[in-house]
Amino acid sequence: MKIVRSNPDLYAVVDGWLRDGKRIALVPTMGNLHAGHHSLVALARERADAVVASVFVNPTQFGPNEDFSRYPRTPEADAEGLAASGCDLLYLPAVEALYPYGAEQGVRVSVPAVTDTLEGAIRPGHFDGVATVVAKLFNLVRPHVAVFGQKDYQQLLVIRRLVRDMGYPIEIVAAPIVREASGLAMSSRNQYLDDGQRVRAGAIRETLEWMAGRLRTSPEAWADIEARAAARLRDAGLVPDYAVVRRAEDLADPQVGRDHELVVLVAARLGSTRLIDNLRVEV
Ligand code: PAJ
Repeated sequence: MKIVRSNPDLYAVVDGWLRDGKRIALVPTMGNLHAGHHSLVALARERADAVVASVFVNPTQFGPNEDFSRYPRTPEADAEGLAASGCDLLYLPAVEALYPYGAEQGVRVSVPAVTDTLEGAIRPGHFDGVATVVAKLFNLVRPHVAVFGQKDYQQLLVIRRLVRDMGYPIEIVAAPIVREASGLAMSSRNQYLDDGQRVRAGAIRETLEWMAGRLRTSPEAWADIEARAAARLRDAGLVPDYAVVRRAEDLADPQVGRDHELVVLVAARLGSTRLIDNLRVEV
């Protein structure tokens, strides 16, 4: 696996691949990679001739009180894991390569509507930062296909809208959520949990399963299911930011009898660690 840090070095490799008619896949990440990220690379490998992964802790998607400076940075281990999962090229840019005018002064890409709710409401500006850096990565890498995890469900919808609205000729592939044996969705933030918190975190997945089961039998009770889900999380010692039932397509409130593809989403805090998870439900 080749590692490039500068944009000219990236272009040199990608230009060669494009000249050879290769189909290119991109897997954008912020590093500190785990089996969830590696599954995205494996999926990319099946869909393309050449796989690029980017590792970049993107400053513009972190709020002023979020964990940008303490976000775990493990480039050596990331490179090893990526090579083992079949990645051909690791793009490891410095901030100046993606934000030549600095993170504050650069062009911004903003995706409206779907970002008004849930993570977008709680983390103002977060999805603008995500859309901005992903647009830059698309322009630099020029992939035919890009893989994103369903773990960040709202992010996936933001990227789909970005691609459609901006006319990027890129196929977006959604990768299933990879979980630990306990059912906890894998996340770089899990390492902040102590043993007791790890056990309590299991309530997130349990609550999502409970919501899905109730919805399949009583979809008309979705608002009541939301309220009970939040109570279940509180009883388990978590502080829920939300536990909601939404339309899968656009995160609007479900219309009973009309919407059949739903998603249940939870965000909850355990101490200073914030975890998100979701489950698709057909009713
Ligand atoms: P990061 O949190 O590093 O995640 C990179 C990709 O891995 C995302 O598409 C995310 O959904 C996926 N992922 C994380 N945990 C997963 C799991 N347990 N199962 C399946 N997929 C999982 O998401 C970002 O970085 C950034 O916002 C980024 C898109 C790179 C833009 O900066």
